[in-house]
Amino acid sequence: MIGTARDGFRAAVTGIGSYVPERVLTNDELSKMVDTSDEWIIERTGIRERRIAAPEQALSDLCRPAIEQALEQAGIEASEIDLLIVATVTPDMAFPSTAAILADELGMPDAAAYDLSAGCTGFMYALAQAYGMMAGGLAQRALVAGGDVLSAIMDWSDRTTCVLFGDGAGAVVLERVDQGGFLGFELGAEGSGGPQLYLPAGGSRMPTTAQSVAAGQHFVQMNGREVFKFATRVLVSSAEAILAKTGHTIDEVDVYIPHQANVRIIDHAVRKLGISADKVVVNVDRYGNTSSGSIPLALAEAQAEGRLHEGNLVLMTGMGAGLTWGSALLEWCER
Ligand code: ACO
Repeated sequence: MIGTARDGFRAAVTGIGSYVPERVLTNDELSKMVDTSDEWIIERTGIRERRIAAPEQALSDLCRPAIEQALEQAGIEASEIDLLIVATVTPDMAFPSTAAILADELGMPDAAAYDLSAGCTGFMYALAQAYGMMAGGLAQRALVAGGDVLSAIMDWSDRTTCVLFGDGAGAVVLERVDQGGFLGFELGAEGSGGPQLYLPAGGSRMPTTAQSVAAGQHFVQMNGREVFKFATRVLVSSAEAILAKTGHTIDEVDVYIPHQANVRIIDHAVRKLGISADKVVVNVDRYGNTSSGSIPLALAEAQAEGRLHEGNLVLMTGMGAGLTWGSALLEWCER
């Protein structure tokens, strides 16, 4: 799916928030848990540490402070939100949705609230969906949160997955603006690649049983090499597609926010796209791959570092389980 902003309708990010748990898990600590080393993890992934949620923290506990910050920055009340989408693969529970829990806790009585599952691309899908609902006249003010507590679905004895991921969440408020804002989206899915990155048990295909738990099928299963190949391909093709569709070139992009999975994947995309390194936002070294939290966390960090200015072109591309991918091109506007 690919499309540009609807004629005469502009919506932009007017508030950003983020939250990561306090607990820092370093590579050295991990090397005491599994057969790995700080050197291996840094060389192959660029990750130095990640955050891990406290045992009592569920996804809504990570999203809530991020949403509160985003609302404060936008200068609006929770009650003014009429659409809340939470992108995640680790909701508090299968149902009710984490979005419905948050809408109640935060006081959004008029909001449609639901979760969206598109792996690490969830935040990009949710942005596009919120934009579409606003452009279609269904929603006036949307809140899109993305976050995951991947530590809850990790096999902490599997060195091929547990070193890569972390916990965190981010949120943005979307509001109508006169100019600038989202210029277009490109989203896709290749379901044939689903078995490369999946969680076998706990759904209707394989309900949780003592056997599924004993076999570790409630943990993330991943073919790292195949996901790597997919990621390097789609990060480039999706970015090129949205730039071509919106009539922009990579040289015009001021800030590039790729999904934070692995520094080698990001470096590959940066080289292939031909974008200068100083335009790229990278925080995977400190947070690992936070799945749906990755892009909003990086966006919040870019803003905190003063890297987002009126009129800047911001390119965001995610990829992940599904296998899925998604890009958005955004003209930054300060209100
Ligand atoms: N520490 C030490 N050695 C390790 C570790 C580890 N943590 N993990 C794997 N190894 C070993 C392997 O067993 C292998 O050993 P062998 O040669 O004796 O068989 C060796 O290191 C090399 O393994 P590779 O898999 O070839 O290593 P590679 O360079 O491909 O890096 C990695 C692996 C980091 C997983 C990489 O493939 C990758 O980043 N893939 C993408 C993963 C990803 O981004 N997933 C998330 C997608 S988004 C979402 O929706 C969640």
